[in-house]
Amino acid sequence: MNTISHTHKNEITYLDVATNGNGLEKAVLTSNAIQRLNQLEYNILEVGPGGGSSINALGEYLGNLSGQAPKINLNLLELENVKSQSLDDAMERISSFGESLLLSGNVVELDNIAKPESMDIVSTSAVLHEVYSYNGGYGALDRTLRGIATTLKTGGYFAYRDVYSVETDNLHESANHAYNADSSKSWLRFIKLFMPYYLNNGQHPYHHLEDHVKIKQGSLHIDSSDIDVNKDTLIRGPIGIMREIQRHYITLRDDVWRTGTLGFIPELEGDKSNDWLNIKQGHKRVHFKFTDSDFLSFNQRTLLTEMSERVSDHFVIDGDIFDAISDTALNNFLETVQKGQDDSASEIWEDWQSREGRETYAYMTVDQLIGNIAIRSVEASKNNDGAETILLPEYITDVKKISRTYYNRFLKKALSNPLFDGKQLILAKKIPLKDVDSIATSLDVVQKYCSRETTASLYSLISSDV
Ligand SMILES: C[S@@+](CC[C@H](N)C(=O)[O-])C[C@H]1O[C@@H](n2cnc3c(N)ncnc32)[C@H](O)[C@@H]1O
Repeated sequence: MNTISHTHKNEITYLDVATNGNGLEKAVLTSNAIQRLNQLEYNILEVGPGGGSSINALGEYLGNLSGQAPKINLNLLELENVKSQSLDDAMERISSFGESLLLSGNVVELDNIAKPESMDIVSTSAVLHEVYSYNGGYGALDRTLRGIATTLKTGGYFAYRDVYSVETDNLHESANHAYNADSSKSWLRFIKLFMPYYLNNGQHPYHHLEDHVKIKQGSLHIDSSDIDVNKDTLIRGPIGIMREIQRHYITLRDDVWRTGTLGFIPELEGDKSNDWLNIKQGHKRVHFKFTDSDFLSFNQRTLLTEMSERVSDHFVIDGDIFDAISDTALNNFLETVQKGQDDSASEIWEDWQSREGRETYAYMTVDQLIGNIAIRSVEASKNNDGAETILLPEYITDVKKISRTYYNRFLKKALSNPLFDGKQLILAKKIPLKDVDSIATSLDVVQKYCSRETTASLYSLISSDV
């Protein structure tokens, strides 16, 4: 049985297991930047490499290039005491393309760690939400973005990847979410347990009067801790909170799956986790193994066996059926936690909550992100007294939204008003403000993705400096 739930965020097992998928997606922007720069040698900084999946994918990309691969001087910046065996292995593999160096430090202090104008590419994958959550919110992010801009050479690229936010421009905008007592019981139980913790302990920006979450059951207005999971429930709150609740449910589900405590462990990485029936619709077959557990009743276990196909040492089942049975088992698990009936279930819950529960991912929409990366980079160049520069996407394809189709299919089935789940990727080039042609091309891209307010503030920032 995997012990993921008993590890903390930076422990070796967490990084080696939980963050080690989707390498190609994590390295795609760095590969794009290498293609565009077309140099013989690169200085690259990967911030928070975790288990090294992006390094492995970068190595694969370099290995598949026709002709001589460029030399790569790879700098990896990790928090102190964060160790990962799979990162060590990835560094060993990529060393055939040049040198790799593991630096210890906090990216918020990047100005003191890396030399100004020293890197061709700086990449962050699933790191900036952690900077926001654990290093001081927006102030820490601003400092980090300024540090990244300073560290890049002019003409270099910042490759950003993190969780997709929401469609709307404003995360404080209200959203109504209805939860059905029959089909969304595990969700109601999750909200009852988790929402009070998140609102009180999470690093989130929802503290204004208008951010107050309102919950109604019938004609009664209640607090989240008083939710009766047997009643249909209406929740009205900032769309950013609804997005976070949804994302945290998915991380808990993944986490509990990995422990095997629900009675089964699905394959979450590798080929077996990509057995698609229809990839666009997120419809897949789930490969899993049974474990011993009380959270899957005898009848559910029989049902799961009957509906599955046995393949060598494991079982395979339609993902929709798997998700439905999994939600029922998760509801049983959460009920046990709520009633304090099982120490090991409570421990799994507490571990997950202390590791993940304070985090806020969805802190910036694409609009805000492009605007902030650009504005912080101009500030950084002003602070450094050099030629003024700005970080902006160069082409329309430099902003990517990658859907998590399997999750989105699950959310659509479970919820009345699901919020899209995916990753957002932005590649931004450090351009001198004097380079009016390049700036004009980039502003066309900005216009495509940003609100009129953001576009206007970037126009005025640039035109006041050229
Ligand atoms: C969610 S993991 C992502 C790992 C990897 N980049 C990936 O996408 O698979 C976040 C990583 O960022 C590192 N990290 C978090 N905060 C950091 C900070 N302030 N400075 C440097 N690294 C940080 C963590 O230790 C961890 O390795």
